[in-house]
Amino acid sequence: MIDLGSKKLDHSGWKNQNTLSNEILISLYGQQASQFFFRNNPTPFVFSDSKSFDLIELEQLLQAVGWGRRPLRRVKRALDNSLLKVGLWQHDPKFPRLIGFARCTGDGIIDATIWDVAINPVYQGVGLGKQLMTYLMRNLKREGIKRVTLFADSDVITFYKRQGWTLEPKGNKCAFWYSN
Ligand SMILES: CC(C)(COP(=O)(O)OP(=O)(O)OC[C@H]1O[C@@H](n2cnc3c(N)ncnc32)[C@H](O)[C@@H]1OP(=O)(O)O)[C@@H](O)C(=O)NCCC(=O)NCCS
Repeated sequence: MIDLGSKKLDHSGWKNQNTLSNEILISLYGQQASQFFFRNNPTPFVFSDSKSFDLIELEQLLQAVGWGRRPLRRVKRALDNSLLKVGLWQHDPKFPRLIGFARCTGDGIIDATIWDVAINPVYQGVGLGKQLMTYLMRNLKREGIKRVTLFADSDVITFYKRQGWTLEPKGNKCAFWYSN
């Protein structure tokens, strides 16, 4: 669980001489799109909360990180019912490539829960996952959402801990019930 009020958002690394103009950024990726560069890579990476997804490309991304196949019709309904969907694209004027994703469910006012955080394995380990979380949290904060939760797989707990997330200690605040 994380308290958005106390989280400092990292805006570093968002400028480069190949920066897309605002007009191009907005026309291709939507109003709240943000671009990100690596030092030695001229291609922009773009975060967006409004560019629509190709469901097949999205499922391929999620399968690439090792998650099971899901019926596209159900995925579409899950996306339609989500509070926020964030995509990360490697920019190309004609064929931007989806390389990262995360989504949130919630009431839109007080609580949100983050799901399906994924970065294509080819692009992992260079800071994009952290930037994806920063972009997502900034959007939730803009909506005034106060409390955000997520369920971390045991092998990625450190990834979230380093960003200021705290692990719920031994059911002191909540309990998990699974139906069979
Ligand atoms: C977890 C995931 C999103 C991280 O994305 P990423 O782009 O590789 O992460 P970053 O490069 O931004 O790493 C940010 C920091 O977290 C650390 N980190 C990244 N993945 C980690 C992991 N699996 N375990 C521990 N630390 C990790 C990095 O070392 C880095 O540390 P630093 O800030 O001290 O340098 C990505 O590995 C992924 O898609 N994994 C498969 C899907 C998954 O497990 N998603 C989470 C479901 S709960």
